[in-house]
Amino acid sequence: VSGTIRRAVRADLERVLDLALAFYAEDGFTSPAAALRTNLDRLADSPAARVAVHELGSGGIDAFAITTTSFGLENGLIAELEDLYVDPSSRRAGVAERLIEDSAQWAQELGCGVLELTIAPNDLPASAVAQLLEYYRARGFVDVGRRLIHRNLAGVPR
Ligand SMILES: CC(C)(COP(=O)(O)OP(=O)(O)OC[C@H]1O[C@@H](n2cnc3c(N)ncnc32)[C@H](O)[C@@H]1OP(=O)(O)O)[C@@H](O)C(=O)NCCC(=O)NCCS
Repeated sequence: VSGTIRRAVRADLERVLDLALAFYAEDGFTSPAAALRTNLDRLADSPAARVAVHELGSGGIDAFAITTTSFGLENGLIAELEDLYVDPSSRRAGVAERLIEDSAQWAQELGCGVLELTIAPNDLPASAVAQLLEYYRARGFVDVGRRLIHRNLAGVPR
């Protein structure tokens, strides 16, 4: 699997949405498809986010990553690798690693001092979660022991 990593353009978004739906089904996320479509359109248009795809020589897209930014007191501008998915047929060939590097480089160029990511256990077996943690650790991510907690806000569409 050797292709090109690039920013997604409008014409890619239907395919990225298909991959995102496969990702969310595989990993047990429950966001409705219509919301994913709306959010994806907005991310693709935003200079504060990067939707990246891996394009094969054949023109097909087999992987995507989404990185967003936010600003806070502690670190100023930071980036978060929010989504990373490689089609099963293209796995174990370094595509995800290239997408991670693309995300880090984009964030660095934007002036972010840190790239965060959340590992969501959802309904994955503990061994899969441990494997993911190890995968990211080998690529420079450190578990700093913070706990992510959230509160659902009733009536606000996500
Ligand atoms: C996790 C995921 C993104 C990894 O994608 P990938 O493209 O297969 O990842 P990589 O190829 O970079 O690395 C996967 C493994 O293949 C190995 N590998 C990389 N290049 C290789 C090559 N040329 N030949 C053989 N193995 C290789 C890597 O060493 C790695 O193994 P490791 O975990 O022992 O380090 C992919 O499995 C996926 O989409 N999973 C479902 C969604 C998901 O969990 N996303 C992450 C949410 S936090």
